[in-house]
Parts: sequence; C-alpha cells; structure tokens
Amino acid sequence: MLCGRTNVNKFLIEEQRRNPALVGDFSMLISDVVRSCKAIAQGVSRGSLAGVLGDEGRDNVQGEAQKKLDVLANQAFIHHCEWGGHLAAMASEEMDDIYPIPADNPRGKYLLVFDPLDGSSNIDVNLSVGSIFSVLRCPENCSGAAPGTDDFLQPGNRQVAAGYALYGPSTMLVLTVGNGTHGLTLDRDIGEFLLTHPNLLISPDTREFAINASNERFWEPPVQRYVSECLAGKTGIRGKDFNMRWVASMVAEVHRILMRGGVFMYPRDSKDLSKPGRLRLMYEANPMAMIVGQAGGLASTGNERILDVQPTSLHQRVPVILGSRDEVERIERYHREHESGEDQPFRSPLFSTRTLFRVD
Ligand code: F6P
Repeated sequence: MLCGRTNVNKFLIEEQRRNPALVGDFSMLISDVVRSCKAIAQGVSRGSLAGVLGDEGRDNVQGEAQKKLDVLANQAFIHHCEWGGHLAAMASEEMDDIYPIPADNPRGKYLLVFDPLDGSSNIDVNLSVGSIFSVLRCPENCSGAAPGTDDFLQPGNRQVAAGYALYGPSTMLVLTVGNGTHGLTLDRDIGEFLLTHPNLLISPDTREFAINASNERFWEPPVQRYVSECLAGKTGIRGKDFNMRWVASMVAEVHRILMRGGVFMYPRDSKDLSKPGRLRLMYEANPMAMIVGQAGGLASTGNERILDVQPTSLHQRVPVILGSRDEVERIERYHREHESGEDQPFRSPLFSTRTLFRVD
C-alpha cells in the first residue's frame, strides 16, 4: 500500500488546526521530539551491538546509578530539540538543573520536560523501556530574560501536550495534545510513525492491578486495604478474581492499561520517609496523568488529582495511582475513609496480618 495510514506529521498538523491555542511551530516541536525518540529506539534495539549497555559510572541527581543509555537518550533529546527555535528551555530527569536554549539558537515559546529513558533497570536485561515527555507554555516573563526553574513549576493541568515512546516488541508513540490519546507505531521500513490506535479509551473498571509487591509492608493502609481486597478475589468483598502484573517500567505499565485497562500504583510508602513516593511529578506523573485522563482514566496521589498538584521543585516525587476510573476513585475513597477513621473495621488485627501471599 503506497498511501493509507496517517503519518505523525499529518496527525500533528491536523491536531494543531483543530486547536488554535497551539501556537506557532508546535507541530515542528513535537516532530523534533519524535526524531529524538526514533534515535533512542535505534540505540535501544541495537543493544550490545552498539556498545550502549551497562552503567555510566556515576549517579544522577536522584542518586540513582546512570546507565550509558540514560546519558545517550538525554543527549538525543538535547541534540534534536535545542536548535529548532521552538523551545525556551528543557528539563530532564537526568540533569540537575534546567537547560536553557543556548544564546546562539533562537528561543521559542515552549518548555520541554522529559524522562529520556524510563524503566532503565530493564535495559541490560532486554525488556521494555520508554521515553516520557511533556510540553508546557513558557510563562509571559520567559520572553525577556532566559527562563528559570520557577517557569517550569506549573501544575500538570497546564500541560499543552504529553506523550511517551515505548521501545517494546514494536516501537510506539502515544500522544495527547488535549484532544484524546492516540497511538502511532513506528514503521521501520519507511522510518515513520503511523497512526494505528486513534482515540484510546481505558475501560472504567478492571480485574488487573500493578504494584511492586515487595514493598507491601511499607505501603499506606488504604493501599494495603485495596490490594488485600483484590487478592481475596471471588470470595472477598470485590466478588471477582484479580490478576497482577509488574514490569518495573512505567511506560510499559501505562501502555498495558491503555490497551486493556488496569490500575497502576506506586504509592507513598514508609521505606524512606524523605521521599513522598518514587515517581517524579514533572517527568513521569504529570505526563502520564494527562495521557490517562485524555483516555477516560484517572490519576491521583490518593489524596488529590495528580494534575492539580502544584510543583514546588523540579525533581519532586509524588505517590501515583492511575488507570481505570472506578478503581482509582475507590482507592481515593479508601484514603478519605482512612483520614476520617471510617476504615476502622479494615484495620482489625485480622486485616493487618494479611499479606500478599497469605490470607489469615
Ligand atoms: O524510576 C522509574 C521506574 O523505573 C518506573 O518506570 C517503574 O515503574 C519503577 O521505577 C520501578 O520501580 P521498582 O524498581 O521499585 O520496581
């Protein structure tokens, strides 16, 4: 077939025509992001052949050991997105500070936030990883002086666009510009992303949840209650059996939820009290919350909607509970009931002795 599916450029231009608020060269900015993802996909798929696996030998600002591919993926974003004149600055999970567009390049109206390679513990074992990105408008005062960190500290409900690339058996780009969530698949023969999954929708309820069960003893009680009820299956309060998955790559996890429903949790836990969660608000939680929300799902910290959280720092962490709407609302209710003490019956010794692997 010589023509047929919509390619990413046509898709973006049509989206921009539908939404006049997307000013200037918005579609060209996303095209630059897409080019970064294609370059990363190439590196990831060549793996050992390209000598890109293994550790970089230093920690990032989060105190996590950087992989070589973390660094290369970060460079790919900077290389492809800094020269086009669409951005004023970038911020990356892999960089301590923001990256203002160098003075010898024209400065644009948007800010780009990205996690260049999410789930990077999966790289060396050849499992799915991804890149996550979010676009914000540069506040008015950006037009004069170079942007500062404060310009990035906008709640997720101000995102103009968000997306991820999943480097899995096929490479997919999932994107929202505020008009639904859409999936495109990389056709390696022609080097283009083609629209394959328009208007993705997450079913409101589910029988599948994803959580790192090894942290169970550290979870907050509302999450312990929810998971315990799922595990009780048909004979418990939920009256149905649940399935569990954990890929340890948020992109893969969210993608599965977009394809067949489910709920993903990386809740607040008491493992390290200095961290109110594992995932980063700006680089992971906000873009995924917009993507999931535009597909009819919901994203919450348990106490508030992720998209309403006012960031206070660039690398801030938050608890994340996202996916099928009814389940996320249920977990929010469990948080409210915990706050008010209404969940007393579930705090009985019987409840607290339940573990994922043993129901007393
Ligand atoms: O840092 C982010 C991340 O890799 C996510 O992609 C993933 O959901 C999570 O961390 C995995 O965490 P853990 O190693 O605790 O399973």
